[in-house]
Amino acid sequence: MSLDAIKDRLSAEIEELAAISDAKAPAVTRIVFTPTDLKARTWLRARCEQSGLAVRQDPIGNLFARWEGSDPDAPAIGTGSHIDAIPNAGKYDGVVGVLGGLEAIRTLQLRGFRPRHPVELLVFTSEEPTRFGVGCLGSRLLSGSLSADAARRLTDRDGNTVEQVRCNAGFTGDVEEVQLPRSYYKAFVELHIEQGPLLEQQKIPVGIVTKIAAPASLRVFIEGAGGHAGGVLMADRKDALCAAAELILSIEASARNSGAPDTVATVGMCDVFPGAVNSIPSRVQLSVDIRDTNLSRRDSVLQALEHTCNMIEAKRRVAIRQELLNADAPAECATDIVEALSQACKKQGLPFLTMVSRAYHDSLFMSRIAPVAMLFIPCRNGYSHRPDEYASPEDIANGTLVLAETLAALST
Ligand code: GLV
Ligand code: MN
Ligand code: MN
Repeated sequence: MSLDAIKDRLSAEIEELAAISDAKAPAVTRIVFTPTDLKARTWLRARCEQSGLAVRQDPIGNLFARWEGSDPDAPAIGTGSHIDAIPNAGKYDGVVGVLGGLEAIRTLQLRGFRPRHPVELLVFTSEEPTRFGVGCLGSRLLSGSLSADAARRLTDRDGNTVEQVRCNAGFTGDVEEVQLPRSYYKAFVELHIEQGPLLEQQKIPVGIVTKIAAPASLRVFIEGAGGHAGGVLMADRKDALCAAAELILSIEASARNSGAPDTVATVGMCDVFPGAVNSIPSRVQLSVDIRDTNLSRRDSVLQALEHTCNMIEAKRRVAIRQELLNADAPAECATDIVEALSQACKKQGLPFLTMVSRAYHDSLFMSRIAPVAMLFIPCRNGYSHRPDEYASPEDIANGTLVLAETLAALST
């Protein structure tokens, strides 16, 4: 299949999938287990079946589309990513790894390649933490990194549990059965947009990932005292939002001062109660996301946060409670898959950069049960998680061809 044919088919499919969205174009919003997500899954399933792949979905909705190998008992070679999208996102995060993975399989089929190991496209449920607060729900369960019980009890903003929501969406069966044995995959390779600027700045078409950063997420609840914005004197206040402001800036400072560019920290949500212009905020809830490729550096930001909470409590006479949602370890990519990716780039005549991923991905959790690696393609200005996220058809097609070569090498 020529590069142009791959570009055309993938571009058309990316546009079709982007049109299945709860946001006005060009933004994409596709939250797990909403009718929109279910519609996108049906669309994708049909594409996989048209290519002769055998599709199954597990009790949490992870979708497996399998191209059987000549030795069906051999462990599979996996590839894939996610199609859920955060509110007001773009078209490419996750989607490039799913549709690019499908296209890589189709390319090999058209070439007449016959794999010995089965090749499986995996579409993970809820890589994004939007609905249930925890990212990579599907891959955490596949890898045994989250217990079925803990997963079932997670709730969305409206108090609905994962258990209720997945059953209403038609995913029944026992969540315990989602976990895969360690022998299931021989290798797992994920194609993704970089979500950072390095490849574009250096004009390099492929990034080969050697490490995936470790995320920690927590919710922080601050309880102060409300009151009349005119009546309560400044000296008497216990303003929960002022306490939150101090905490947010201290989190930013700890990440900035860690001495390493891989330390990043974000407070992405701030709910203020009661939320009236003439009322002192009595309660605030923050969502905090801290990441690093180095676990002890990441954990020192967490410890600094703990220390600052104690300090602010004493100084501002507020009560602060933290709820740690997850604190995961970073992953090292498998050297033999990294080597297979490098060889594939050489075969395609494409220069590559080895790099770390500061974003997390389902591959982080798949690394607990299988050797993994990732390849990145450039995205414009490094933008991601915003509607103007963009990757060029040429870069997507190149990434797809490198992935196809790699899957061929690994599945022989
Ligand atoms: C994934 O979307 C991430 O937040 O890294
Ligand atoms: Mn994302
Ligand atoms: Mn992603």
